[in-house]
Amino acid sequence: MRTELTDIGAAARPDPCAVVLFGATGDLTRRKLLPAIYSLELQGLMPERYALVAFARRDKDDASFRADVHAAIAEFAPSLPTEGDAWDQFAARIYYHRSTLNDGQGYSSLKVRLSDLDEAHNLGGNRLFYLATPPENFTEITTGIGGAGLVQPSVPRSSWQRVVVEKPFGYDLASAQELNAHIRTVFSEDQIYRIDHYLGKETVQNILVLRFANRLFELLWNHLYVDNVQITVAETLGMEGRGAYFDESGIARDIIQNHALQILTLIAMEPPISLSADAVRDEKVKVLRSIRPFTPEEARTFAVRGQYSAAAVGGKPISSYRDEEGVPKDSITETCAAIRFWVDNWRWAGVPFYVRAGKRMKTRVTEVVIQLSEVPDVLFARLTCSEVTPNRITIRVQPNEGVEILMSAKEPGARMDVSPVKMHFDYADAFGKDIPDAYERLLLNAMLGDAALFARNDEVEQAWSLMTPVLEAWKSDPEPPNPYYAGTWGPRANDELLKTLGHRWWNPERI
Ligand code: BG6
Repeated sequence: MRTELTDIGAAARPDPCAVVLFGATGDLTRRKLLPAIYSLELQGLMPERYALVAFARRDKDDASFRADVHAAIAEFAPSLPTEGDAWDQFAARIYYHRSTLNDGQGYSSLKVRLSDLDEAHNLGGNRLFYLATPPENFTEITTGIGGAGLVQPSVPRSSWQRVVVEKPFGYDLASAQELNAHIRTVFSEDQIYRIDHYLGKETVQNILVLRFANRLFELLWNHLYVDNVQITVAETLGMEGRGAYFDESGIARDIIQNHALQILTLIAMEPPISLSADAVRDEKVKVLRSIRPFTPEEARTFAVRGQYSAAAVGGKPISSYRDEEGVPKDSITETCAAIRFWVDNWRWAGVPFYVRAGKRMKTRVTEVVIQLSEVPDVLFARLTCSEVTPNRITIRVQPNEGVEILMSAKEPGARMDVSPVKMHFDYADAFGKDIPDAYERLLLNAMLGDAALFARNDEVEQAWSLMTPVLEAWKSDPEPPNPYYAGTWGPRANDELLKTLGHRWWNPERI
């Protein structure tokens, strides 16, 4: 079956184009973008003709940058071949354009370079600009691109130009609006691809398939049968050298405003009328708009935060957040947060959506747990001492990607004892192949012009307007975040948040 969103095998190859990478010597490019582009090339999914142009400040040329790319791929994608014809062909398409980001001349000379490459490789003037820089550079880069006339001004266009913008997209509602307004002085909305790499994850896309390609789940997917929804994005890592960035951001900006809310919208949305970018995004925006906004008082009560303190994890000493490199000793930035949302629409009225995210948590796991309501307490629960555990559908985004259903079964024996058991669908077992990295899918879709897996301006702004009262409430709170030991599920406040309504977190280790 051909679908717009899920069948990249059936998709046409992208048009010939130049991919221009800003931030080309940075970490994201080395770890993610270069391996993803090379992997697409090896799968025959890159355009038939293309040029990869790195735009960066450091003193390099084509040859030395090609050597850097070689080293990056050897380090971050060691299973891909870095010798032989495939590599040679790939390397020959890589170019380095040296300039600082705020030098108008650098963009004018980029224009000349791109025209030459267009001509040499017959690229038709198509360009994908990828902003893989820190966010403070987004404005000057788009100004440079616009100023040099690198984007055709109006439709109909004889070629395409698109810009991919990395996260974070804004710092709060006002800055996101400002950034949107600025980028739109150069690119129109249909040319802007805002990255949320969680949308490129297979298991996140599978939420749509699970929901809308199965009768089984969709029938239950509403307030009549769902008791509560829990979304967890937990990491075991700490700052890994990103302390200075993280301290300005905190987990709510880093994960909840984007990745976690994106997952929530896919879980809660109505079926879109098609899989086209706007049809999908229209439904996601409707979910965000139906989430009850927080008053400052509610924000303080229903959005709780924590910060990790030192602990021994697996016998290894882990330092506290405040002792991480780049973090001030008196930081009050949250490294973990849990928030209760209400999606006030017909389908979800009365169902709490609990979202939590954290660094230095007990286990690395991203998952969604849909807890169904209890069965009437008239049969088995009366017969035995064992409680009948409500059904749970767990969508595991990572690791051990798959879906798990917790149900009740009769224990073998003369008694009518009821026990919870799990039914598993495991991606790796079922399909026997590696799950591609999210960036492969996103880069490919951006080249193909399919924006369904990218955030639209109204989506980003709506997510910020939900989170801004929470961020403000925390900022004005005289109390610091609740401490929690590294390697745990966060402060007690996380559990208390659920207890008010008689709920508890279904941590992965819990039956
Ligand atoms: C990024 C955050 O967006 O996502 C990081 O800035 C976080 O702090 C990362 O570690 C998690 O991504 P993944 O794909 O490893 O779950």
